[in-house]
Amino acid sequence: MLTGNQIRKEFIEFFKAKNHKHFESASLIPDDATLLLTVAGMVPFKPYFLGQKEAPYPRVTTYQKCIRTNDLENVGRTARHHTFFEMLGNFSFGDYFKEEAIVWSWEFVTEVLKLDKDKLWVSVFTTDDEAEKIWIEKCNFPKERLVRLGEDENWWAAGPTGSCGPCSEIHVDLGPAYGGDENSKLGDEGTDNRFIEIWNLVFTEWNRMEDGSLQPLPKKNIDTGAGLERIAAMVQGKSNNFETDLLFPLVEEAARLTNSQYGRDNEENFSLKVITDHSRAVTFLVNDGVIPSNEGRGYVLRRILRRAVRHGRLLGQSELFLYKMVDKVVEIMGEAYPDLKENIAHIKKVVKIEEEKFSRTLDQGMQLVNQEIENAKKDGKDSLTGEVTFKLYDTYGFPYELTEEICEEKGIKVSKDEFEAKMQEQKERAKAAREVVMEKGQDSFIEEFYDKYGVTNFTGYETLKDTGKLLSIRDGKDGKKLMIFDTTPFYGESGGQAADFGVISGNNFEGKVLDVQKQKGIFTHTVEVVKGEAVEGEEYLLEVDEANRVATAKNHTATHLLHEALREVLGSHVQQAGSFVNGERLRFDFNHYEAMTPEEILKVEDIVNSKIAEAIEVSVKNMSMDEAKKAGATALFGDKYGDIVRVVNVEGFSIELCGGTHIDNIGKIGLFKIESESGIAAGIRRIEAVTGKGAFEFVQKLEALLVQIQKTVKANEVNLLERVEKMVETLKENEREIESLKDKLTYVESSFLKENAEVINGTTVVLKAFKSKTADELRKFIDLGKEKMTNAVIVLASSMDDKVIFAAGVTKDTISKVKAGNLVKEAAQITGGNGGGRPDFAQAGGKDTTKVTEALEAVRETLRKSL
Ligand code: ALA
Repeated sequence: MLTGNQIRKEFIEFFKAKNHKHFESASLIPDDATLLLTVAGMVPFKPYFLGQKEAPYPRVTTYQKCIRTNDLENVGRTARHHTFFEMLGNFSFGDYFKEEAIVWSWEFVTEVLKLDKDKLWVSVFTTDDEAEKIWIEKCNFPKERLVRLGEDENWWAAGPTGSCGPCSEIHVDLGPAYGGDENSKLGDEGTDNRFIEIWNLVFTEWNRMEDGSLQPLPKKNIDTGAGLERIAAMVQGKSNNFETDLLFPLVEEAARLTNSQYGRDNEENFSLKVITDHSRAVTFLVNDGVIPSNEGRGYVLRRILRRAVRHGRLLGQSELFLYKMVDKVVEIMGEAYPDLKENIAHIKKVVKIEEEKFSRTLDQGMQLVNQEIENAKKDGKDSLTGEVTFKLYDTYGFPYELTEEICEEKGIKVSKDEFEAKMQEQKERAKAAREVVMEKGQDSFIEEFYDKYGVTNFTGYETLKDTGKLLSIRDGKDGKKLMIFDTTPFYGESGGQAADFGVISGNNFEGKVLDVQKQKGIFTHTVEVVKGEAVEGEEYLLEVDEANRVATAKNHTATHLLHEALREVLGSHVQQAGSFVNGERLRFDFNHYEAMTPEEILKVEDIVNSKIAEAIEVSVKNMSMDEAKKAGATALFGDKYGDIVRVVNVEGFSIELCGGTHIDNIGKIGLFKIESESGIAAGIRRIEAVTGKGAFEFVQKLEALLVQIQKTVKANEVNLLERVEKMVETLKENEREIESLKDKLTYVESSFLKENAEVINGTTVVLKAFKSKTADELRKFIDLGKEKMTNAVIVLASSMDDKVIFAAGVTKDTISKVKAGNLVKEAAQITGGNGGGRPDFAQAGGKDTTKVTEALEAVRETLRKSL
């Protein structure tokens, strides 16, 4: 019996023997703006199908990791729904067509997989006589098990527009126990669980246009997709994908981590399957660089991850568990996807952080949803409004899908349309705000320009000076001109490298280039006119500022060295999350989950500077993606097979795909110095650094500061540290001394207690107003007084700026007659405040400083009455 890993291998070997080139699985993040995720094996090849790009090989085979989330609610409920799955495929780009595709699939299914021929069914598109003929004549396939199905079943397209075509599908019949009866046919109602589609052969020969019409593609192509999990199930005699060797170890691990058991109960099975499926999706998405967020792919990841965690809760597990599933996923999938093993620590960290975050949200959110449901029920309603579901999402971060699931369980209705309408309203508000700042009409200008002249000839890799014919000059903002030439040596801002600046001259015109932006390969220079007027059609001299270009190049090459050094010091999970270089500094953002220690920073600086000292040549070469990969630039690209790429190589240390400008020998960088390391978002760190002259100036600045400090504390380089340490020690001693002096002073000052004492009805009373004493000082006086005296009442006031504070103390033997709290309260009220406290000690505050005497007088009056 073939294992999942073996099936994958056999498939690739089978097609390699038929002259197919094996391409590695492309990233789940497609290089395609129209798609969020790689949803099928053909996604990386769309440009070849559409004829937008020449295919590097006419025949290709892959096992492709895919994610689909259109049926998320069903995942776990059924035997075969998945978010993450693998698609085996063979592809022809204008090479072989229907006959080979059909005959080979038959050969593989019957001779390699050895599936029982009598259980196989085939479908073809309603009008596809040709496919039917091939099945019957070339494969000897029995006509009675071949059916024709319509567009819903046997027409395939990756999206509403683009390449598409009729298809033919191979199915396995599990028998009447799974639906229908002895006479049922593929496609009959109620047989969905009985006839299992295992392979889809798409005859891609059409291009669906925006208006819905079909145009023939330049060439006829083949796109096939066979679900690995389904095939494994069929080969291994399982009616449920989750029971194959690809998935069952995960089911068991999920059961172990949630203290549950598979096979006992339907709901329990459901949750275990959800966790099983989702742990694969989560592992692979994070591995391909996705970080949980509220948008796009990040949101897909967040949703899947959170759904899995919630099912853990349904199983009674409220501790963190999902991140532990990653180990098992990597154990099973690591052979086919070796990069998983390298990234495992990073993947677990990302999953754990999100799992923790969601656990908190869950605790809160469940309460809120339940509350809303209660409220609705109380009002006699059986649904939650879009307002409420959106508020739960927008204000409390509680995913809509969860609200929906919980409501479903409690028999409460929610409307996705209403929720989405609210979401849309919010988006439109945001868009309206954006449009105000966007320059309108620019893009259509570039489109027209492109149609007329094509792209700018960029010569800046080879030279800093060139001549170019002015093709267009327009007015920009603030009196600046926007100029486009046929040729330019000016680097346009891209790939995190700032634009060059410099000068343009000729024909009595002179201008300063302040910025260069690139759109569709067209370089637009923002120019400040110094003199004259530039005329379209004339040639001009374009000169890049050399010092700035060289400084920028040093920073850019140093960024590559930094990237590699970070991977050495922190681990291979470090990936660039953003980068910016100009002539002054470099900024590098990367994923890492904690602040770097000072030792790590030093180590990175050391590695980079040691490399610089080796003065290694930097080579820049254009090569095919295959060659780049062989050269070792593995982790740096997704799925641009066949493209020509620019590779920047610091021999033996760093090799990156990069379009930027670099120094020719890293020795010229001179010095590399990190200025700062900080966190800019969850899991993303930022390093700012300087090189060359900038680094030298930074060190000089530090030195100047040091000299300044030495002067101030009258020390030299040798004894500075000792001196500062001593000063700190002395300061501490002085503080202690001041504290004790203050206490003594209070004691001395407390002589007023005696001097101001009067006797009212046999009790010693001290009433006194101060200026600018703190509440603490008043308290200390009172404590001292109470220590020294018996049968005594002390009421003190202190006024400062626009407030008054009162403090009162009554000795224990007198609190039966008067209470400190009442005394300060009375005084405070007279000065426009309030307060109170304990019978033996109390404080209160007032506002009107002119009424302090009056307040104390009132207290005296009270004492006369009550003592
Ligand atoms: N692209 C086809 C599918 O996904 C093979 O079914």
